[in-house]
Amino acid sequence: MKTQVAIIGGGPSGLLLSQLLNRQGIETVVIERASRTHVLSRIRAGIVEWGAVELLRAAGVGARMDAEGIPHDGCVLSDNDLQVRIDFEALTGRAVMVYGQTEITADLYAAQDAMGTPMFHGASDVVIDDLGSALSTVSFTHAGLRKTVTCSFVAGCDGFHGVSRRTIPQEKRREFERVYPFGWLGVLSHTPPVHDELVYANSDRGFALASMRHASLSRYYLQVPLTDNVEDWSDAAFWGELKQRLPSDIAARLVTGPSIEKSIAPLRSFVSEPLRWGNLFLAGDAAHIVPPTGAKGLNLAASDIHYLSQALIDKLKSDTSAGIGAYSERALKRIWKAMRFSWQMTMLLHRFDGEDAFSAQMRRASLMHLSDSETARRELAENYVGLPY
Ligand code: FAD
Ligand code: DHB
Repeated sequence: MKTQVAIIGGGPSGLLLSQLLNRQGIETVVIERASRTHVLSRIRAGIVEWGAVELLRAAGVGARMDAEGIPHDGCVLSDNDLQVRIDFEALTGRAVMVYGQTEITADLYAAQDAMGTPMFHGASDVVIDDLGSALSTVSFTHAGLRKTVTCSFVAGCDGFHGVSRRTIPQEKRREFERVYPFGWLGVLSHTPPVHDELVYANSDRGFALASMRHASLSRYYLQVPLTDNVEDWSDAAFWGELKQRLPSDIAARLVTGPSIEKSIAPLRSFVSEPLRWGNLFLAGDAAHIVPPTGAKGLNLAASDIHYLSQALIDKLKSDTSAGIGAYSERALKRIWKAMRFSWQMTMLLHRFDGEDAFSAQMRRASLMHLSDSETARRELAENYVGLPY
């Protein structure tokens, strides 16, 4: 089988890239390890930056997001009962959109089906070859048969555990990593959100986040030790702990109910450089991971795809190589700024086991500074709504 761009991974990065390229008449093949049902059952990000909102619209998949998503023009940060509202709209003129990653992925699958893009789900043993030649290959097993796709370029959109990054020789990769000593326990429930904006709450008992998907679907997270398992947390224990970590006036309005999803994700910062190796280009979680505190994971995947799609369109439609030559450097510039913001938000809002009293005071002082300084709030808002592409 022959195509122009073979895309490994059918998550948001891979599907969005395929969609943007197909709309310019460029052929793609998407090779995904999991079933479509599995991909669509993963509950992940919920906040879409304005740049990503515009990119999804430009990709022709904005209609349901615009109809069902909820624009948010602010959020609340708290430390016990000290609350600071960050007014995105007043500080930056922009807002973010509450719209789940699961919905974005479903919209992209529908659009790709309409385009008739060849998509292989349940692909295993993916091997990428000939990255230094004019034509590269991606081989994989699908429905018991070994298949090979010949292509001009390979997009590695297969997440942190995928094969693409590891195809780049180890001595050619530079990896940067910070692993945080806690995870986030997430719960989804058919209950009205506790507040009409997101609440990022630090407390003496650790961090909690109150988020949502829509008016009757809430998403909450608790900072938990890495040694905890989902089975350790009954619904009652989760709600009890959440109530103690949110500011008391907000906690008083908490409506609880049965959880419909519960999972623990570890927190990590990770970057692998460069993003290009011959004809292979990495994008999204295949190249980098951020801790979720700044809501940047999905949004960084979108900005990578913006740069990569433009570069590939320039190359394949106008035979201009400047974009593909500059892709790694361009994308990494924005990636590192989002790394910094996600790390800073993580340090600002979490309690670290064994920390001294001084550390807690520094976090509280940072929040007091945010409360008193419009400049500090603007800096946070500018990063949260998303730096320009
Ligand atoms: P992925 O979504 O990981 O997609 C990669 C795809 O590649 C997957 O479908 C996978 O099945 C496939 N794949 C993997 N290996 C192979 C292979 N060998 N061959 C073929 N296909 C392969 N971000 C936030 O902003 N907020 C959150 O609350 C949040 N929560 C998260 C919770 C979890 C558990 C995880 C893992 C991530 C979370 N993120 C969150 C991050 C965000 O979801 C990711 O940044 C986003 O999914 C990146 O999209 P992607 O397409 O690059 O990678
Ligand atoms: C959600 C997740 C985040 O990591 C975040 O910062 C904000 C919202 C969410 O799943 O709704």
